[in-house]
Amino acid sequence: MTTAIAMDTEDFKAATRKQWDEAAQSWNDHTPGIRAWLRSATDAMLDMALVRPGARVLDVAAGAGDQTLDIAERVGPAGAVLATDLSPAILELAQANARRAGFGNVRTLAADGEHLDVDAAAFDAAVCRLGLMLFPDPLQGLREMHRALKPGAGVCTMVFAGPETNPCVAILMSTALRHAGMPSRDPWQPGGLLSLGKPGLVDDLYRRAGFRDIATTRIDAPFRLPSVRDYVEFIRSSASPIREILRGLDAGAVAAAWADIEERLQRFDTADGWEGPNELLLTAARR
Ligand SMILES: C[S@@+](CC[C@H](N)C(=O)[O-])C[C@H]1O[C@@H](n2cnc3c(N)ncnc32)[C@H](O)[C@@H]1O
Repeated sequence: MTTAIAMDTEDFKAATRKQWDEAAQSWNDHTPGIRAWLRSATDAMLDMALVRPGARVLDVAAGAGDQTLDIAERVGPAGAVLATDLSPAILELAQANARRAGFGNVRTLAADGEHLDVDAAAFDAAVCRLGLMLFPDPLQGLREMHRALKPGAGVCTMVFAGPETNPCVAILMSTALRHAGMPSRDPWQPGGLLSLGKPGLVDDLYRRAGFRDIATTRIDAPFRLPSVRDYVEFIRSSASPIREILRGLDAGAVAAAWADIEERLQRFDTADGWEGPNELLLTAARR
């Protein structure tokens, strides 16, 4: 994923769509690890969004649909879930995963979360797991969720907290930028991985979008993997900004940058494997 720096919004979204179309299969292949990493945070998100049996739920930036299947399970055959995403390729995988799991209550819609082609006041709940921070205009994304929800309906979004509690992302970015000879970047730049981690920012955006009863909960969600190499491999194969930063370098320089990243991330090695600290923000509210 590119950052919105010095890029026209439509170019930025086209680049984001292309990167996620290309990384779709890899993100899907990593579902078991992502699922384990986000297990309790996802359950909390669905509770906070009031996802209940019989509900019609909007899943924004649904990706390959891991949380979509949890929603489908919760709402049951009397309910329904609409999985939306900017990337048609990743949504195809979400649809295939739903079919394979036997859920007949999942539909998909390729759509920019800032301009959802859905009816107003049509949903009982909405969620967005690790997507909103990638929007160049997250306020517009929240306004769209607000428009789509019935009065009193629940919403919950999950985003990364700031750089101080997400040191792996900070290490990845600073090391890659140094190898590419680029200046450091403002972590709050819209569209960046940590862009909604600024204290108070998400609540303020929710308020401006018209939501009420807004509350943000911090969740500790360390990334546990057998080794640091597994984490680096996950980052290398997903639509990460790191790949974009290193794109202009020759093969040897790229390999040196990844080796340096791996070495720096070894500080999170433990006796039982590798554990990268990670903090998430779950923001819940009512329409
Ligand atoms: C980190 S993945 C999360 C996917 C899924 N929610 C999950 O947790 O596994 C981010 C997703 O956001 C989507 N995305 C990025 N910008 C978007 C936008 N403007 N509108 C809708 N989806 C967007 C990407 O295509 C990608 O599928």
